[in-house]
Amino acid sequence: MTKKPYYITTPIYYSSGNFHLGHCYTTVICDAIARFKRMDGFDVFYLTGTDEHGQKVQQRAEKAGVTPKKFVDDLYEQIVALWKTLDISYDKFIRTTDSYHELTVQKVYEKLLASGDIYKSEYEGLYCTPCEAFWTESQLVDGKCPDCGREVIKQKEESYFFRLSKYQDRLIKFYEQNPEFISPKSRMNEMINNFIKPGLKDLCISRTTFDWGVKLPFDQKHVAYVWVDALTNYITALGYLQPDHANFDKYWPADLHMVGKEIVRFHTIIWPALLMALDLPLPKKVYGHGWLLFGNDKMSKSKGNIVDPFFLVDRYGVDPIRYFLLREIPFGSDGSYTNEALLVRTNADLVNDLGNLVSRTTAMITQYFGGEIPSPNTYTDLDKELISLCEQTLSKVRTDMDNLSAPDALTDIFRIIQRANKYIDETAPWTLNKNGDKDRLATVMYVLAECIRFAATLLKPFITKTSNIIFEKLGIASPDNFKGIAKFGGTVAGTKVNKGENLFNRIDVNKELKELDEIAEKQNKQTKADEKTADELIDINDFAKVKLVTAKVLSCEKVAKSDKLLVFKLQVGDEIRQVVSGIAQHYSPEYMVGKTVVLVKNLKPAKIRGVESNGMILCCDDDGKVVFVSPEKEVACGKVVR
Ligand code: MSP
Repeated sequence: MTKKPYYITTPIYYSSGNFHLGHCYTTVICDAIARFKRMDGFDVFYLTGTDEHGQKVQQRAEKAGVTPKKFVDDLYEQIVALWKTLDISYDKFIRTTDSYHELTVQKVYEKLLASGDIYKSEYEGLYCTPCEAFWTESQLVDGKCPDCGREVIKQKEESYFFRLSKYQDRLIKFYEQNPEFISPKSRMNEMINNFIKPGLKDLCISRTTFDWGVKLPFDQKHVAYVWVDALTNYITALGYLQPDHANFDKYWPADLHMVGKEIVRFHTIIWPALLMALDLPLPKKVYGHGWLLFGNDKMSKSKGNIVDPFFLVDRYGVDPIRYFLLREIPFGSDGSYTNEALLVRTNADLVNDLGNLVSRTTAMITQYFGGEIPSPNTYTDLDKELISLCEQTLSKVRTDMDNLSAPDALTDIFRIIQRANKYIDETAPWTLNKNGDKDRLATVMYVLAECIRFAATLLKPFITKTSNIIFEKLGIASPDNFKGIAKFGGTVAGTKVNKGENLFNRIDVNKELKELDEIAEKQNKQTKADEKTADELIDINDFAKVKLVTAKVLSCEKVAKSDKLLVFKLQVGDEIRQVVSGIAQHYSPEYMVGKTVVLVKNLKPAKIRGVESNGMILCCDDDGKVVFVSPEKEVACGKVVR
């Protein structure tokens, strides 16, 4: 039987570095969905990647003193390592600097030009560089970018425009006919009221103010707007407009674009309009999830509340982190991370409920049956209650996952675990053993082993490693589908269990919180020290901005009514410059005439005491005594100093 294709994507991540736990949220959720769908018989294609072009990357690379390519290569390594650490099972990783992607973006622009969806004009707007987004005056919040709250700048440039306005009515009609397209529903209203109703304007889709991007094939001065470049990844990764387009034929349209709420508008307005212009089918769903906050604040470097996923996984293991993200955050709304919430959740669900069930059951099977899972005898009503709970859970979890609610799915799976723990107390196996009731004891052990098998199978998409360990303990091969949990009774009697170590160790929350605070304090101190060092250091490009030249003093006079100021006429090559300098208390005008000094040539002109000054004479401050800088040998004026 051919499997039904299922195409799921995360946004492609900005190559900005400092990936925090919030960034992991989209990818971990998609991973759980992708793994669930694979086990549920779908032919899944899970795409993620990196968004590597744009002004921001170019600026950051310049600041770091490396080429943009080197900059994005380093960050690519970082994010691949992060996804490995979090056990992310993507099928493809796309980089927007991959040549097949760049070539296809160019073909997309050509197609849009040919269909008349692109035209050339001039753009003037308010641009937020970090978000790579233009805003209208009315969209600003307190005059700042509504997404990140930073300053916007006025930018004017010759640009190509996409006829977005042309698609307004078709978009509205599409939303009406596909009410599930933008989810949750609240986000649909937000898009319609805030963006569509005020009227869609044509979209500026090329830039000339920087060059780190895909060059437009028909006008090489322009690079593609990063959002068009980025959104197109969802089809270029599948082979759209490329010789091998089998994946595109099979997987497009996407079943699910999972994105954070701040980028829903790009995915539900610009992206579908572009696809309409390309005459392609539209994705089935865009889900805008909420943010993971730190307490009540957005995680951000400037707030200093970044939670490092590498640190957490190293300290607690990958599954407590995956479990926390999937279980604790109400899907669709914002959720909050605190160390305490992570530790309490880990202790309650993973250590107490799951860990105890597995260790108690394997210990009892070891103690009472020499480690072999016994054959069950007649099932009582109590057993049947557990059996039917196990058999019903897959369909409940399937519905939860179709609703994209991992917290509900986990709550349903944990019902089996919690019910089974209660069953141990109700059946009191130690009493059955004491009373020599081996038949009943065998049934109870079998029911427990089966409950664990059901739970571990269902948990596999969420806490991948732990589930595999549980199967090792049960002596059963870890399944890669749900077929084995269609019916209770799949465990073969006689299978040998292996108790081994505890799945999770209980965390002493107070002690751990104290330690984490100490670590955070140390790290903050270190970060501040690092920032200070970084502030003090400049790279060669910064230095190159200062133009220093030699200059000969032609004349020098005191500035009227000033004790400190001298006004110089300097010969700089062929040019004569007037410069004001505050060295009158250290040098007389006569002394200065004929001297060679070093001039900062490209300082903005200023008026000092009403006298125009075009540059600055370099001096040393020798404990309050001012000494002007001069070449060690006679040098002609206008020579570059570096
Ligand atoms: N490059 C764009 C996406 C282009 S897709 C065609 C981008 N990248 S991002 O790196 O800023 O964000 C990647 C994902 O991480 C987004 O889904 C974003 O919402 C998510 N998160 C970043 N910080 C987050 C939290 N604090 N909480 C939850 N998710 C957040 O946007």
